[in-house]
Amino acid sequence: MSSNVRPESMERITTPELANAFINEQVKEIQAQVGNKKVLLALSGGVDSSVVAALLIKAIGRQLVCVHVNHGLMRKGESEQVIEVFGKQLDANLVYIDATDRYLDKLAGVSDPERKRKIIGEEFIRIFEEEARKLEGVDFLAQGTIYPDILESFKQAEGKKAVKSHHNVGGLPEDLQFELVEPIKLLFKDEVRVVGKALGLPAEMVDRQPFPGPGLGVRCLGAITRDRLHALREADAILREEFSIAGLNLKVWQYFVVIPDIKSVGVKDESRYEGWPAIIRAINTKDAMTATIEEIPYALLHKITARITSEVEGINRVLYDLTPKPVGTIEWE
Ligand code: XMP
Repeated sequence: MSSNVRPESMERITTPELANAFINEQVKEIQAQVGNKKVLLALSGGVDSSVVAALLIKAIGRQLVCVHVNHGLMRKGESEQVIEVFGKQLDANLVYIDATDRYLDKLAGVSDPERKRKIIGEEFIRIFEEEARKLEGVDFLAQGTIYPDILESFKQAEGKKAVKSHHNVGGLPEDLQFELVEPIKLLFKDEVRVVGKALGLPAEMVDRQPFPGPGLGVRCLGAITRDRLHALREADAILREEFSIAGLNLKVWQYFVVIPDIKSVGVKDESRYEGWPAIIRAINTKDAMTATIEEIPYALLHKITARITSEVEGINRVLYDLTPKPVGTIEWE
């Protein structure tokens, strides 16, 4: 599948049968393209890279080398799930790199959001490059490019000031030249999910809400500290758990917690208790260019507030962000 244009005759993949036909066709194409060579893939655990990994494992097994870099800014349980699903269940050739200290050391004291994004992106390329150089005989690089990425790159910038730099992965050095394998590049997101399910990936991985490349790094506002990041990860896990119990996880497009770098005065066990506020954001959108607010039932907000303030060390208030985009962006940074 070398063309970057989706043929008009291409049927939308909406059923397991259509997904299986696509998978069989791709397996043959990948085998023909790659032969007995090795393929490298940066496996974040997001929907797209996970589906590409599962497709390639089906086609070429352990000739695929998956590199999962844990930048320490993942949500609770995410890296563990990558190890469980790919390392154990699918017996993938998985290189797991815990780069938490490396990232958090580099980010210490850095409060500018764009500078944070740059550090996170650059560090990723450096680590991935180091791993690529260690591996012998890798000729191919697999990528989870999907059709909206291709359409996006066709669009002309319209001379407006860029709101944020969204790219996470820049180019690799020129001497690391790979041929690309992009098996899902003509698919839309909903089709990727159908294919992922047909490949047997767990629903919670395939139906995952979008998660920005810089991860919790842009939700732990300002200069990231380990204690505030830990509180954010725990509070976010509670929010996700409660959304799943309430069935909102499949309805709301993106929902998460943000923790600003401010403290307010509270009271706990009859003593002064200074803590951070946890800000809940839950939005719906079609294309992330504009967004509206999900109206979370008050009872659920109360339950989430009670759990976060009692279970998460360091948080003494919960706030609910009612701002649509525009004027607020989806993320706070
Ligand atoms: P904003 O905050 O710009 O977000 O309204 C729109 C969508 O993009 C995601 N986002 C990012 N994704 N790298 C990413 O891969 C980034 O640096 C980044 N910043 C924002 C955000 O989560 C939302 O889905």
